Amino acid sequence: FQTWVIPLILSYLLGSISFSYLLTRYLKGVDIRDYGSGNAGATNTMRVLGKGPALLVFFLDAFKGIGAAGIGYLFSEGNQTVMMACGIAAIVGHNWPIFLRFRGGKGIATTVGVTAFLAFSAALVAGVFAILFIILTRYVSLGSLIYTCVVPVAMLFLDYPATFIWLSLLITLMAVIRHKQNIINLFKGQERKI
Ligand code: G3P
Repeated sequence: FQTWVIPLILSYLLGSISFSYLLTRYLKGVDIRDYGSGNAGATNTMRVLGKGPALLVFFLDAFKGIGAAGIGYLFSEGNQTVMMACGIAAIVGHNWPIFLRFRGGKGIATTVGVTAFLAFSAALVAGVFAILFIILTRYVSLGSLIYTCVVPVAMLFLDYPATFIWLSLLITLMAVIRHKQNIINLFKGQERKI
């Protein structure tokens, strides 16, 4: 219980803090979910507040992932599976936050935080792919999806433990579910570019 349940709940609550929502609410007095893609995330913050705040949101959301892995570390004496599971709980919190009636973001910045912290080389490879695709296509959503798809593959090639690979496939699945509308838009050629 103490090794799993408590850190998972704490991580979920940490992930539920929506920095894009808080920043747009306090700087502009609006609900980010009423604008652009309706997503509570860094990309949509750029549409509402501009590049600087978007970057800030990205890093704060990424730190939620790192913080959650840290919570896992403290409660499990460094068990890597618990740390990864806590990272996933933070992504779940970001996507379905208890404080915002379960309407949050798509979890990519938090995923970047978790993976960069726990599987740096895999995150680096995936990050290079994602950034290349974003620069070439100007679709952040496509880059996000590529990031989450490349991470487990890179983990496989870089010999990460099997539990990491399985858990990161769960992250990929969540990202695909949350990007459903983006995928439809991409196929229709109607996806927003940056
Ligand atoms: O990380 C979110 C990004 O992949 C897509 O965001 O607002 O364009 O749906 P958005």
